[in-house]
Amino acid sequence: MKKSASYKPQGHQTRGKTARNRLRRSDIFLLLTQGALIRMRDDADTRSFYVDLGYGFEPFTTLETAERLRIQNPDLSVLGVEIDPERVAAAKPFEDDQTFFRLGGFNLPLQNNESARLIRAFNVLRQYDEAEWREPIEQLGLQLIPGGMLLEGTSNPTGSVWTANVIRRSSIPPYQVIRDGFVFSTNFHMGFEPDLFQPVLTKNYIHRMIPGELIHTFMERWKTAFRNQSPMRSFGLRALFCSAAAELENAGYHIDMRPQLLRRGFLYWRFRDL
Ligand SMILES: C[S@@+](CC[C@H](N)C(=O)[O-])C[C@H]1O[C@@H](n2cnc3c(N)ncnc32)[C@H](O)[C@@H]1O
Repeated sequence: MKKSASYKPQGHQTRGKTARNRLRRSDIFLLLTQGALIRMRDDADTRSFYVDLGYGFEPFTTLETAERLRIQNPDLSVLGVEIDPERVAAAKPFEDDQTFFRLGGFNLPLQNNESARLIRAFNVLRQYDEAEWREPIEQLGLQLIPGGMLLEGTSNPTGSVWTANVIRRSSIPPYQVIRDGFVFSTNFHMGFEPDLFQPVLTKNYIHRMIPGELIHTFMERWKTAFRNQSPMRSFGLRALFCSAAAELENAGYHIDMRPQLLRRGFLYWRFRDL
């Protein structure tokens, strides 16, 4: 939806708690996996944003992300979107030529020459009901450019542990919104075992840890792998994390086995090849 005089942000206000560097690891994940989208150049008269939806009381996570992603693309345009007008007003002084803050909702406040290449929505949908999860995901996905990506996640207060849905807009007609995968992220400061992630499962999964559900089956298999690979603990938690991932891959799950992801504590479970 394009912004107009009658624009009404879709969604509702929620708690705005955030923290400096809380979403640092989501930036690292994007830098490691979405380099092509980050580096893509805009045409002269268009802007394709990195959108941070629901940045909270203060815009620090958006500003930190802008700085990190601009290592790969100094010209990247960044848009922070908030449904709470006071939070938008608090962020406005931090705007510059490439960084913008606007009032908006799941219907992003984009102008006609603007689009979204990447969207992050962290700790936003966790405050909605489970039944409300699917529609905004589809809606946000359809506002991505073809091939664009939405990272929708839930973290603990410091961001040391999180999980996220990876949603992609297909790059071929009819440009469907596809569930590309799911990421588990830990910096290992809280140790590591699969149960660590249960409290930060995203809204579509947190109430689905019951036999017969996809996420439950996956977590049970991961726990088995963790137990089987426990001798690797003598080489450190990262080694254990990597070998449990390898066992999952051998068991038929499609895991991104790149060492630069696994060694940093990202288990990227892919649902399909695009
Ligand atoms: C808990 S804060 C998360 C802040 C930050 N993303 C983080 O993870 O630290 C959630 C924010 O999402 C905003 N929000 C909720 N629904 C929204 C929507 N539909 N569109 C835009 N912002 C929304 C709320 O106003 C709130 O400030």
